[in-house]
Amino acid sequence: MPKRRRFLAAAAGASAGFFAARSSRAAECRLEVLVDEPIGTVAPEIYGHFVEHLGGVVYDGIWVGEGSKVANVAGVRKELVDQLKRLGPSQIRWPGGCFADQYDWRDGTGPREKRPRRTNFWAGAPEWPAGASRGGPQVYDTNAFGTVEFARFCRLAGGSPYFAANLRSLSPHDFWQWVEYCNSPAGSTTLADLRGQDGEREPLGVRYWGVGNESWGCGGNFTPEEYATEFRRYTAWVPGYGQKLALVGSGPNGDDISWTRRFFETAGRSGRNQLWGWALHHYSWNVSSGRTTNWMEGKGDALQFGPEQHYELLAEADKMEGLITRHWNVMGETDPAHKTKLVVDEWGAWHKPGTEPFAEALLGQQNTVRDAVLAGLSLDIFVRHADKVAMANVAQLVNCLQSLFLAHEDKFCLTPTYHVFALHTAHQGGRALRTLATAPRVSYSRNGQSASLYGLNGAASLKDKRLVVTVTNPSLEMTRETEVVVRGAGVRSVQATTLTATDVHAHNSFAAPRAVEPREDAPVAGPAGLLRRFPPASVTRLVVDLS
Ligand code: AHR
Repeated sequence: MPKRRRFLAAAAGASAGFFAARSSRAAECRLEVLVDEPIGTVAPEIYGHFVEHLGGVVYDGIWVGEGSKVANVAGVRKELVDQLKRLGPSQIRWPGGCFADQYDWRDGTGPREKRPRRTNFWAGAPEWPAGASRGGPQVYDTNAFGTVEFARFCRLAGGSPYFAANLRSLSPHDFWQWVEYCNSPAGSTTLADLRGQDGEREPLGVRYWGVGNESWGCGGNFTPEEYATEFRRYTAWVPGYGQKLALVGSGPNGDDISWTRRFFETAGRSGRNQLWGWALHHYSWNVSSGRTTNWMEGKGDALQFGPEQHYELLAEADKMEGLITRHWNVMGETDPAHKTKLVVDEWGAWHKPGTEPFAEALLGQQNTVRDAVLAGLSLDIFVRHADKVAMANVAQLVNCLQSLFLAHEDKFCLTPTYHVFALHTAHQGGRALRTLATAPRVSYSRNGQSASLYGLNGAASLKDKRLVVTVTNPSLEMTRETEVVVRGAGVRSVQATTLTATDVHAHNSFAAPRAVEPREDAPVAGPAGLLRRFPPASVTRLVVDLS
């Protein structure tokens, strides 16, 4: 049977959601939840977002302006705010990304009509789609969206700002003054007055500050030793104005263990004492079989992909678990008490150009059920490592890389990734529990050689008597008959919600905004609901009431 038809048949067969236990045949997979083995609290901050002045993220995506025909609240796209709010977004990172290390925060202050226009960091990027107007705010930033506009956006959405400070092209003094502009008491200083004139008399109370971004690359091409020295200079004695600052160091690119070790050794105790979080960046893309090392060609297509690219992309994302544990162990060599936690402040799928929602949406891409599985498995990893990961930010919120929203003029839709975040909100603030997954690995071909990926995995958390279990099945063909075993508690009822589609390439668009949506099953009483069929390429959430 052709693969696509097998995928359809398997997905259809799985629609019942749970199966009757048969004494003659045990389920092929098992997911055990160990209620008595807590890992740590699931920080709401792991469900964070990232907004960069990049293509259509800010201008059009979020900021439409107060005079716009698009429904807005104080210039911010209303529909986006309303939908984001439903996710409890905890914190949102801004203004970059690479953009941050070229940005002068003062440009985004004062009367909007008087703010300077500046050439955006991304103006010369090779990825701009043909036909993009190269004269708009995506290229010549009007600075209409500055610190207070962003802070208001966060407030409207129910989250906190997480600012990335410029370490490459501004001084420590500028950084401290940005903190003063944000946090100093009303009327206390000239910068507090400037904030007041910008419409925010009371302090913004900004706690999270990134000290540079990708300082090994676009943030200055530093060595870890050089960056450690800069980090100390930027963070020594910086006042918080009543706010206990959570300072985040620019950590490694993926598996660069040496960046972590050398920074931690060089920063010394005084540097490490300032370090609340250590940023790890890991993107997942298809490497095209060594044919090219070109930055763009090396990536795969968001919509056109076969089984090899499907599995390879998910395997890339699944590396996150090893990255977290390896960097954590190295951090422990000099910080045995683990005062500093990991902050995965850029993660997600990165596909090649060609599926942008509109021409000005540089690095914009479509988002299929494959991306939803990638989001589900990544968030599950963060929950499983709740003791290590204090914060995470998917890149990026709207019209860019692994977005939750596509938005252009008056058109708007939620992506499958949005729906995965909605399923996961139930974990926020819960106690992560240890899980043990047993499932046959999925075999596939990588460049004609056999390769494999995990067969089924998930994460669990407990709040009062409500257990939340999230599960991903990455297989394109196999429905996974699974026994979910809750060790240490009885089960009253189970409610399942699943995101999948009959075709893994399914996605939402402005023309078909509801093509992919989660489906909620009727609750099942007692443990019977824990015998489940997880359909191919799916993300499922079980909410289990314990007795
Ligand atoms: O998210 C896009 C870019 O990826 C960010 O600006 C940068 O930090 C990373 O390399």
